[in-house]
Amino acid sequence: MGGTFTAAAAAAALVLVMAGLFGAATANIGDKCLTSADCGAGQWCFDCEPELAGSHCVRSAATNPFQLVNNSLPFNKYAYLTTHNSFAIVGEPSHTGIPRITFDNQEDTVTDQLNNGVRALMLDTYDFKGDVWLCHSSGGKCNDFTAFEPALDTFKEIEAFLSANPSEIVTLILEDYVNAPNGLTNVFNTSGLQKYWFPVSKMPQNGQDWPLVSDMVTSNQRLLVFTSARSKQVTEGIAYQWNFMVENNYGDDGMDAGECSNRAESAPLNDKTKSLVLMNYFPSVPVKLTACLQHNKGLTDMASTCYSAAGNRWANFIAVDYYKRSEGGGAFQATDLLNGMLLCGCQDVKACQQGSSVVCSA
Ligand SMILES: *[C@@H]1O[C@H](CO)[C@@H](O)[C@H](O)[C@H]1NC(C)=O
Ligand SMILES: *[C@@H]1O[C@H](CO)[C@@H](O)[C@H](O)[C@H]1NC(C)=O
Repeated sequence: MGGTFTAAAAAAALVLVMAGLFGAATANIGDKCLTSADCGAGQWCFDCEPELAGSHCVRSAATNPFQLVNNSLPFNKYAYLTTHNSFAIVGEPSHTGIPRITFDNQEDTVTDQLNNGVRALMLDTYDFKGDVWLCHSSGGKCNDFTAFEPALDTFKEIEAFLSANPSEIVTLILEDYVNAPNGLTNVFNTSGLQKYWFPVSKMPQNGQDWPLVSDMVTSNQRLLVFTSARSKQVTEGIAYQWNFMVENNYGDDGMDAGECSNRAESAPLNDKTKSLVLMNYFPSVPVKLTACLQHNKGLTDMASTCYSAAGNRWANFIAVDYYKRSEGGGAFQATDLLNGMLLCGCQDVKACQQGSSVVCSA
């Protein structure tokens, strides 16, 4: 047994060395790997224990439907991969001088998330230290030991991405505890994000389609911001999220197989006066080790459950923790499913491409 194992391991190691020598272009999802350099573009080397023993190449990047298909449809005809608590990043250094004691939900920077194709960020905003910070807390009060970073730092990363990627649109979904008058507006101004602002006046109020993505790009109104603070739609012109979007339960309540119902603040999912549908799929307490197991059939089944619950509408936003963790396709494949169904009625957006070899099985 020992000898056989050693020979097999040596053969596997040789294959990896060869893959390294000849470049990684031939690596496929599911191939064994030692490091991400062994994997292909848009993949990383990840170990989803205990489901699959050892490290395998899995996806790390989303398909861009604007590039693969086109961007000439309304904004609400596409699906966008969404990170829950995008700012709560493993290893983020303390910015308060006090060691942090709280959960994390993601593993790479907001810049990396955006470069990997994440297009909507869920951020928790608080008044803190005379400024606006991204923070975890309860009772709406940020603490030194739960604070992540000033919102300005993250907003500047988003600004840099929008500036470098003039055809992309980013959506911010704020769990908003900022009470300082114009607190958020000041940070949007200072960060340079204000110039990409998509005005509330252009958002459909009664179930109409959104403007075309191509028009949003042409007018450079490429930042959508939604707040959980109702009053800010009037006071600061920041859209109240649930005027425009329905959303299912979050945390463990959003992961019950076969159930998809609205969170308390949202209209029922089948209320078609709201043109956007947001689907949460993450546990109440983020657990790194199990995330890869959840970004699988449970996630795509929930996409179907929520489709029915939303009056036969596929979700536009699909929000997860540890978005890159999977056994292969994960949240990226789930987003491809949603875009496929939204754009051409196929189970993979790659089948929507003209001349695609991916067969549409819908
Ligand atoms: C933000 O900037 C705009 C113009 O760029 C200005 O009209 C507005 O008053 C500013 N708001 C704040 C709160 O600074
Ligand atoms: C864009 O793609 C959609 C979905 O495949 C298609 O219906 C539409 O005709 C395309 N528009 C253009 C201008 O190519």
